Amino acid sequence: MSIKLRKIPQDLPLKGKRVLIRIDGNVPIENGRAVDGPHGRIARAAVDIDWLSQHGARVVVLTHLGRPSGKRKAANSVVPIAKRLGSLLGTKIAISRALFGARAEQAVANLKDGQILILENLRFDPRETANDPVFAKALARLGDVYVNDAFAVSHRAHASLNAIAKELPSYAGPLLASEVNVLSQLEKNTKLPFILLMGGLKIDTKLPVIKHLSSHTDYVLLGGALATTFFVAQGIEVGRSIYDTEGVELVRSLPKHLLKKIILPEDVVVASSFRKDAKTKIVSADDIGSRDRIVDIGPKTRDQFIKKISHAKTIVWNGPFGYCEIGNFCAGTRAIAQAIADRTGVAATIVGGGDTGPVLERMKLSDKFTLLSTGGGALLDFLAGQKFPGLEPLKVYD
Ligand code: 3PG
Repeated sequence: MSIKLRKIPQDLPLKGKRVLIRIDGNVPIENGRAVDGPHGRIARAAVDIDWLSQHGARVVVLTHLGRPSGKRKAANSVVPIAKRLGSLLGTKIAISRALFGARAEQAVANLKDGQILILENLRFDPRETANDPVFAKALARLGDVYVNDAFAVSHRAHASLNAIAKELPSYAGPLLASEVNVLSQLEKNTKLPFILLMGGLKIDTKLPVIKHLSSHTDYVLLGGALATTFFVAQGIEVGRSIYDTEGVELVRSLPKHLLKKIILPEDVVVASSFRKDAKTKIVSADDIGSRDRIVDIGPKTRDQFIKKISHAKTIVWNGPFGYCEIGNFCAGTRAIAQAIADRTGVAATIVGGGDTGPVLERMKLSDKFTLLSTGGGALLDFLAGQKFPGLEPLKVYD
């Protein structure tokens, strides 16, 4: 899907302007703190917030956090996001508990040039997820300009992403524009061989990607619970491994030409439990015992996948290849991550997915790819060729 977006013009006067910037600050919260590494969603959006602030804009940050279903819930407050932003930017970020109306407008009016305010979680109002135009208008009253910098949620038809962009001069922020630019090249200028690597669970979100890209890909390499689901569909014993029970039928319905491109692990690491101290062994994929649990790809598979990676010119990877919550079970994923990072430059390397990010951060590989997408579901939807309501109003046509 090739998309061109309206970027912020270089000469756009920003000094003294109220700029609404929609970010995706939706990161895990642990003990009241935002879990966000140096290349996390908040950290990456902070660069653009800082840029606006340095240009004298009065910045109003919009975000959601979790799915509070239209109700105010303390656990979903943006306070940890404000703290994280504040510590990244070395400044205090004001918070407006009111999302619209006189109190919110006053909080924005109190800002001086360069100061930053964040609105409480937009999803505290049910009209956000309903893409309500009246709510969008009320939000728009808080700004002179709107910037969408939230790729990770732009697949949603929500008021702060879609309806609002019709109310104000609207632009794609640099982070959003760069993600869409790299992803747009994928089908337009695909350099071959193109390999797609997919792990993790949720097969229903991954099969559409495999199908949509099937005419471009040379190989689809599978690992993790995704591969286990394929094993089950083929009648292979998987013991007590995790797999997607509902996905089995979906796999069985895949067309032959697509199945031909799919490479499943030939060997796997199995463990007696998902505990750190569990006994492990390497077995061939057709020799998994009835009490075994697959926790990683095996060394033969690792070598075979790395060989494919080392010849590829376009590589897209989403989802871990083992049970990465436990370090011992993450060796395959780490080896794959390193091999893909090593190809960057020679090949276009695109990686993403909520579970992949922390692994890369720990390995200090986050900035070693053509694109580390901020998107989880959004990345998969983009790769599956879905329409993005958050991008539609920002599109420009040649
Ligand atoms: C995500 O984490 O994928 C985005 O923030 C979107 O969240 P949502 O699936 O709750 O819309």
